[in-house]
Parts: sequence; C-alpha cells; structure tokens
Amino acid sequence: MDLLLVEKTLLGLFIAVVGAIFISKLRGKKFKLPPGPIPVPVFGNWLQVGDDLNHRNLTDMAKKFGDMFLLRMGQRNLVVVSSPDLAKDVLHTQGVEFGSRTRNVVFDIFTGKGQDMVFTVYGEHWRKMRRIMTVPFFTNKVVQQYRYGWEDEAAHVVEDVRKNPEAATNGIVLRRRLQLLMYNNMYRIMFDRRFESEEDPLFIKLKALNGERSRLAQSFEYNYGDFIPILRPFLRGYLKICKQVKEKRLQLFKDYFVEERKKLASTTKSMNNEGLKCAIDHILDAQQKGEINEDNVLYIVENINVAAIETTLWSIEWGIAELVNHQEIQNKLRRELDTVLGHGVQVTEPDIQKLPYLQAVVKETLRLRMAIPLLVPHMNLHEAKLGGFDIPAESKILVNAWWLANNPSNWKNPEEFRPERFLEEEAKVEANGNDFRYLPFGVGRRSCPGIILALPILGITIGRLVQNFELLPPPGQSKIDTTEKGGQFSLHILKHSTIVAKPRSL
Ligand code: HEM
Repeated sequence: MDLLLVEKTLLGLFIAVVGAIFISKLRGKKFKLPPGPIPVPVFGNWLQVGDDLNHRNLTDMAKKFGDMFLLRMGQRNLVVVSSPDLAKDVLHTQGVEFGSRTRNVVFDIFTGKGQDMVFTVYGEHWRKMRRIMTVPFFTNKVVQQYRYGWEDEAAHVVEDVRKNPEAATNGIVLRRRLQLLMYNNMYRIMFDRRFESEEDPLFIKLKALNGERSRLAQSFEYNYGDFIPILRPFLRGYLKICKQVKEKRLQLFKDYFVEERKKLASTTKSMNNEGLKCAIDHILDAQQKGEINEDNVLYIVENINVAAIETTLWSIEWGIAELVNHQEIQNKLRRELDTVLGHGVQVTEPDIQKLPYLQAVVKETLRLRMAIPLLVPHMNLHEAKLGGFDIPAESKILVNAWWLANNPSNWKNPEEFRPERFLEEEAKVEANGNDFRYLPFGVGRRSCPGIILALPILGITIGRLVQNFELLPPPGQSKIDTTEKGGQFSLHILKHSTIVAKPRSL
C-alpha cells in the first residue's frame, strides 16, 4: 500500500470524524430518527452489525429494535421495514416517495449509473424504460406467443434426463440442465435464439460472465468502500474487475446477439410481420425512433439476464429441493397432475389454472425460499416521514419481505413447507401482492413486471419434472442439503445438490 494513500486516508478519516460529529449533532436536534443501535462516528453501526445483512440477520435485529429500525452504515442510512403496514406505506401509499433505487459503486458500473430500468431512480427515464419494455416482455400476448417455447424447453429437459443413465441411479446435478432451460426460455423471447446444449461455447461464455457479474454485485466484500467513501481508493482493484466484466459482457450481448439480429432483420422482410417480432426488434424500434440510445438497449439486455434468468432458476431449484425432501407433497402433486390431465398427458400453460395444488406448491416455494427476500432496495430521493419517524433523504430502504412471509405472528407454522396453507387458511393470498404479508414479487410501482412470465414458467417446469420422474435424494441420503446462501438481496441454495430422477413409465 503506498504511503501517500495511507496519509490521505488518515486525513480523510479525521475530517470525516469531525464532520460526522458535527452532522450528528445537527441531525439529533432536527430529526426524529427510527430506533436502532447507537452509531459511532465514521463507522456508524457497521462494526457492530458487520457486513452480512441477510434477511435472517435483519430479522434478528427487527426482534430487538422493532418493525422499523435504522442502521448507519458509515455514511449511508439503512432503514429496515418488517411489518405489513409499513411495507404498504413504503410500496403503495408513499410509492412515489420511496420508489427510487439506491446507487452504489458496483451497481453504478454494471448499470452505467442507472441507464437501465431495474436500478434507475423513479422518474422520466424509468417510466420510459418500463413503457418500452412492456410490449416485448410483460403482457399476456408474450405469454401466449412464447408458452410453446417454454413447454418445448421443458420437454427437452425431460428427454435429456431420460436419456442419461446416471440420472436414475447415482443422480445428476439437475440444476445445470435447468439453467440451460432458463437461458433458452429468455433468449427465445429476447432474440428468438436458443442454445443446443450445455456445451455450446457461447452459452458457456455467457453463463460465466453473468455468473461473475452476479458474484461481484451480490458480494458484501465491497461494502467498506460504499459505506465510507474515503476508503474507496482501496477498492480500486475490485472496481477494475467489475469494469472489465461489464465491458466484456455488454460487448458479448452486442456482437453475438444484438448485431446478429440486426443483420437478420436487414436480410429478411419477415421482421415487418408483427407476429414474428422478438423483444429486441421492439427495443431496436424504440432506439430508431430516438427514444433510447444504444447503451440503453444493452442495459435492457443486461437487466433481463439478471432479473429474469437467475431469480426464476433459483425458485425452480428451491421448488425441486423441497419436493425431494417432502416425498408426500411430491406424490400428492403427481396425483393431481395424473388425475386432472390424465397419466402421461404433458402439462401446458393453460392447464395451470386447473391445477390448484401445483399453484400452491409454487406459492409455498416463493414464500419459504423467497429469491429476493429483501426486494430490490428502495430509496427516497427527498427527506420523508414513515411510521411517525423522519427518514433522511437518500436512505436505503429494505423491506424484509421474507420475514413478512415467515413471521409466526402472521402465519401458521411458517417454517414448515406446507403448500396446503394456500388452499386452506391462506386461500385468498396471491403472489401479485394482494396481501402485504406475502410479497415475493414486491407490489406497487417498482414491483416485478416479470411475474406474468415467471409463474407459468415455474408451473410448467416443476409440473413436467414431477409428471415424468420420481425425484429422490442420492443413494444413501435421506434428504438433500437446503442450506441457504444470501447476497446483498438474493437468496439461493448453497449447494447445487445431486438429485436422482427415476423415469416414470408412460
Ligand atoms: C421467480 C422469479 C422472480 C422473482 C421472485 C422476482 C422478484 C422480483 C422482485 C422482488 C423485484 C423488486 C420489487 C421491488 O423492489 O419492490 C423484482 C423486480 C424486477 N423484476 Fe423480477 N422476479 C422474478 C422474475 C422476473 C422475470 C422473469 C423478469 C423479466 C422477464 C423480471 C423482471 C424484473 C424487473 C425488470 C424488475 C425491476 C422493476 C423496477 O425496478 O421497476 N423478474 N423482481
């Protein structure tokens, strides 16, 4: 470490201490801040609470400090909300005030300082991006156009697993094949493209870059530079890697997908036919009209790669893991599929509405194993009021949606995986946010527009696997490991378990 850097840092620290004391005195007089642990200058509560602010640690803090509490993480204010009423206030009643997203050093790199949709502040740019993305991605027409593709992808998985002798004996890491399915489901919508196999070199490259982007963004490693800006020089190496990954990734999207599609469009007339347009054609139309620029186009592709593929894949993986560990539930689901559709008749998208137990299994998976347990962090651009407290401008607001859906004061035995709850005492609760205890996709302005695609994909994929296979733990094991791994705001299974898939006779 060079001495000049250390000197500068120490001087910066000194100025920050004096500044923090001064500001906290001023603020103490003016603001009625939410409760929370007592902060120390510069570091705030960071040294007390550490880096790993996952949904479970934040739940423990909520038990101590209440349904709303404030953490000072260096210079950042972090407000954590843990009751249905406060969630309603943040996401619905004051949806505009709390409808922005926080920026941080790493996300700024990956989103070009909010040139995308998911991480941009609430305002003109967000509205425009949401409007432009709606027709190509988020309507029932898209579901009806692409459901055959999703059914086809699920059929390919069934075929591949049936062909693999290992699957029925020692088991396979099913997730690997399901990852290809999710890429194909989304790349068909975006580019009318699919990857033939897990060995496809382009798929391998894409998967590696997306994986790297996720790891870098979800890691807690860079918190110090985000919380205490004067420490940012120490993050130089990390940020350099982020920039390299971002550039390589956008270049890959551009060279292999966007430009390819443009070439195809210029050589065929078929693209004038509305029915054959894929998402990128609509997005490029918007670029041609001057509504968005080329970077925005690439950031839309970036957002779909992250928001759509991983979240849905994690949820499928969780669903399968719970079904492997709860054989009686798996059998009941299989009985429903056999009875309603007939033995061997493959489930399709319109069938899902006739299959209440399948829907309940999906809902229960999203409740207990919420892929985005803290939603995507919200932010208030201006000073605001919440639950009688003052919230300083630009606070990061985390809604602990996992705890809302797993709090024993609100749910019967929430730690149990019991889909029946959604047919019995919680029969009226939907995944679209009609109940503020259950928000796997959020609710309100910044809620997930992809719910319209995610639910049928989950139903088709889980349904087909259960229809065609008996899903079991590997030999010698009675359960598979469902240890969780949380990131900045993600929750996935730690180990991609080996699963035995015994084909059923059709
Ligand atoms: C099981 C799968 C999925 C889950 C659990 C999920 C969950 C979520 C959640 C919790 C949010 C943030 C809500 C908030 O901050 O209040 C979100 C945002 C978003 N999701 Fe999803 N999502 C899933 C699938 C998808 C899919 C398939 C797509 C696209 C095709 C998608 C696109 C988006 C976008 C664009 C946003 C940002 C919305 C905004 O900031 O305005 N998601 N999602």
